[in-house]
Amino acid sequence: MGPRRAPKETIMATERTLSIIKPDATNRNLTGKINAKFEDAGLRIIAQKRIHLTPAQAGQFYEVHKERPFYSELCEFMASAPVVVQVLEGENAIAKNREVMGATNPANADEGTIRKEFALSVGENSVHGSDAPETAAQEIAFFFSGLELVG
Ligand code: CMP
Repeated sequence: MGPRRAPKETIMATERTLSIIKPDATNRNLTGKINAKFEDAGLRIIAQKRIHLTPAQAGQFYEVHKERPFYSELCEFMASAPVVVQVLEGENAIAKNREVMGATNPANADEGTIRKEFALSVGENSVHGSDAPETAAQEIAFFFSGLELVG
């Protein structure tokens, strides 16, 4: 017989997720206010850098959306000014970050969320966060080497 385990629903996984503070937010000097929302929710910023993407790099990052009508607009926007890319770590970090961000369209975002407070539109929505463990791993590897993740 193996060791006794807690029932599955009580097991909290420490996860990592990729977050991007987008150009509309860096333009308005909101990096610190957005980071405070993550930290207040118990998410730890274990890697962070400010970079200016080219449209081609943005296109590669958002390749899954390449058939969408807003793809070129999205890539141009993401390359229009610096972004802050970061890795957030914590219990259920992927879902927790999505909660803190709020709905993609700020018109549908809950009170207190980043997008409700700061987003300008569905396109200029201040933050990106990974949507699942597989995409989180891919998106983290897109921007960071293992050496840069300091948990
Ligand atoms: P994000 O979580 O970064 O993932 C894809 C992005 O596409 C999304 O946030 C939005 O910013 C953007 N997006 C989604 N729908 C639209 C739209 N209708 N017009 C412009 N951008 C959009």
